[in-house]
Amino acid sequence: MDLLIKGGTVVTAENSFKADVAVTGEKISAIGLGLKPGRNTEVVDAKGKLVLPGAIDGHTHLALSFGGTISSDDYYAGTRSAACGGTTTVFDFAQQNAGERMMDAVHRRNAMAAKDAAVDYSFHIGVGDVTTDEMLDSMKEAVECGIPSFKVFMVYDFGVDDGQFYKVLQKSAKIGALVGVHAENRDVNNVLTKQYLAEGKTEAWWHYMAKNEMVEGEADVRAINLAKMTGASLYIVHLADKMGMDAVVKARDEGYPIFAETCPQYLHFTNEVYKRERGRDFVCSPPMKNKESQDALWKGIQTGDIATVATDHCPFTKAEKDWGITKKDGAPGNFTTIPNGCAGVETMYPYMLSEANKGRISFNRAVELCAANPAKLFGLDHLKGALQAGLDADIVIYDPKKNFMITNTQMHGDTDHTIWENVKLKGYPIATYCRGSVVFQDGRFLGRKGAGRLIKCKPIRLKGPQL
Ligand code: URP
Ligand code: ZN
Ligand code: ZN
Repeated sequence: MDLLIKGGTVVTAENSFKADVAVTGEKISAIGLGLKPGRNTEVVDAKGKLVLPGAIDGHTHLALSFGGTISSDDYYAGTRSAACGGTTTVFDFAQQNAGERMMDAVHRRNAMAAKDAAVDYSFHIGVGDVTTDEMLDSMKEAVECGIPSFKVFMVYDFGVDDGQFYKVLQKSAKIGALVGVHAENRDVNNVLTKQYLAEGKTEAWWHYMAKNEMVEGEADVRAINLAKMTGASLYIVHLADKMGMDAVVKARDEGYPIFAETCPQYLHFTNEVYKRERGRDFVCSPPMKNKESQDALWKGIQTGDIATVATDHCPFTKAEKDWGITKKDGAPGNFTTIPNGCAGVETMYPYMLSEANKGRISFNRAVELCAANPAKLFGLDHLKGALQAGLDADIVIYDPKKNFMITNTQMHGDTDHTIWENVKLKGYPIATYCRGSVVFQDGRFLGRKGAGRLIKCKPIRLKGPQL
């Protein structure tokens, strides 16, 4: 035994109990009371602390080319930041180029990630081209290579149309894959954007108005209907609106394998943020919605209808956000010239655990949302997402008594600001282990660039809404 975490309260998605956790090499080797260290075992005192599985962030965009720039955390900065917030696995996106086989996109992105990642990682493949049978059929090869989840965008110029989306769903149902979707109505968004700009409405608020509740909700409903027609499992990423939430609940009640992810930014902030002086810092897609939507999301968190919490981590610098005022070329900017996305990978688990600590949900539910369910959904529960002998020793020690006020100076990414500045958390992680190695302790990153490993996932065959 190499490491013994002694005297803490182990929290899993199912229950909480006092136990020691033993680690041998990269794996958890035993969990129980009164475990005895060996001669060379490092013993960590966890009395008064919670011992949790490392979080799995199912949605990050590291080094993403977007809006005329590249998101400011690369695979090293993003995974370093993840480690310091208790996240031990991140899922990034490998966006397929036109004419490219699905696995070629993964190889291209993995060449960047493998040398940089400080925690474990895997990919969802962003579908860019299924216009030929070869491209569509290459999805099967990806599943066989351990990358069984795909994502389609219903928005953006690189997104797919409904016909392509339908084909991806049909294929996924056959080959054991999960289809994630960014659901917003592209055409309505384009019309509203043009109209607002013609009226001189250029501020961040109009980003929200052009992507309002109905713009997202309509696409959520359409995506669910397309999935129902094919029998495919659908995963709606960054769900932010009540209409979509209601549609997810209905489809799940009817027995369909429909799953939803939301993000801390939608649970904590509302569209009011776009009225702030630096409202542009909060510009992401979908935008934060109204309080009614936020309440519906929290209800979904409490009832179990939201399956996962992830971050959509996609930070840009303040200067890049300022392109909403003055563009890169010096011309006047507007809400469409602000790169979309915000930082969140380091604050996700601490935020959800803090909400648990305040009594809004149980610690078990926070663990389920951030670790156990992503592991089951994305096909890596044979390795991660729980504390159990034989699984990877991805472990977080959490101090429920440590109060923490988020400031960017204490974050470990490369971004120069956080939308979470001055938000107060009750409790905070004090140590993170990734496959048995300490990567974060007492506020400091202790991991190593390139130590993260590409995780190969199992095929995903979900017959109903239960995970
Ligand atoms: O604003 C966001 N979310 N930017 C990243 C791309 C996406 O839509 O997920
Ligand atoms: Zn998205
Ligand atoms: Zn995203």
